[in-house]
Amino acid sequence: MTATESSRVDDRELTPPYARFLVHLIRPFPDFDFFFIRHLRQKAVRLLQLKPGDRVLDVGCGPGGSLPYLVDAVGRSGEVVGVEISPEMSINARKRIAANGWDNVRVVVADAESARLEGKFDGLLLFAAQDVCVSPQALANLIPHLKDGARVVAFGGKLSRRRFAGVVNLFFRAMFSKLTFPSTPGLNYEPWTLLKTYLREFNLEEHFFGWMFLAWGSVRSTPQHGERKGPAIAPGQQLS
Ligand SMILES: C[S@@+](CC[C@H](N)C(=O)[O-])C[C@H]1O[C@@H](n2cnc3c(N)ncnc32)[C@H](O)[C@@H]1O
Repeated sequence: MTATESSRVDDRELTPPYARFLVHLIRPFPDFDFFFIRHLRQKAVRLLQLKPGDRVLDVGCGPGGSLPYLVDAVGRSGEVVGVEISPEMSINARKRIAANGWDNVRVVVADAESARLEGKFDGLLLFAAQDVCVSPQALANLIPHLKDGARVVAFGGKLSRRRFAGVVNLFFRAMFSKLTFPSTPGLNYEPWTLLKTYLREFNLEEHFFGWMFLAWGSVRSTPQHGERKGPAIAPGQQLS
């Protein structure tokens, strides 16, 4: 099923509320990125350990902030495939691709839960793509497209366990549920829990006083989930 066949009926509904305004604001600036996040983006891409010639997936690629680093990592002989549910967001990613003349980068406009991908990939980036990271259906669709031992790196928001975090956690939780898709599970302390079940050598770092995380590891060579379409977690079930 493609994004346009999705039950989220029009383009606007396919763009998360937090992005509906931003997407228009940044449209004239194809290379826009938030400066405070850049070093973590670069680190996330480094952690993918890509080599020239590799194929990499950037799911929830949005306006394509990670694309320049991914292109550098895989070189002209490699391939970068972005998956983005929002046609509006994908316009910015396409502009970036055209502006930089990358002929080995493409964006598939589709829901990660049902996107049809071809072949196997050497890495999967989920950068600020929380909806995807916590979706059993999305991971069940994406992980089988990774080669054994392929690296997965996720970056996103979480609740902080710091002593002073209580009120800010409440605020973040409320904002998060207002600004994400209605189907996105609420913010919690360990949004990587589902992803971790697919990985060996799981690694984790907290950033911004515990309100952001960077998680990475390699896909198990013998998948814990066998041939099942995802782990034994009910759709929509919230983890920890
Ligand atoms: C916060 S933005 C991050 C964009 C980009 N990764 C970056 O670092 O700039 C998250 C993106 O994930 C997309 N997204 C949300 N749910 C998705 C899904 N189920 N499939 C594909 N993309 C999705 C949103 O439309 C949004 O563009």
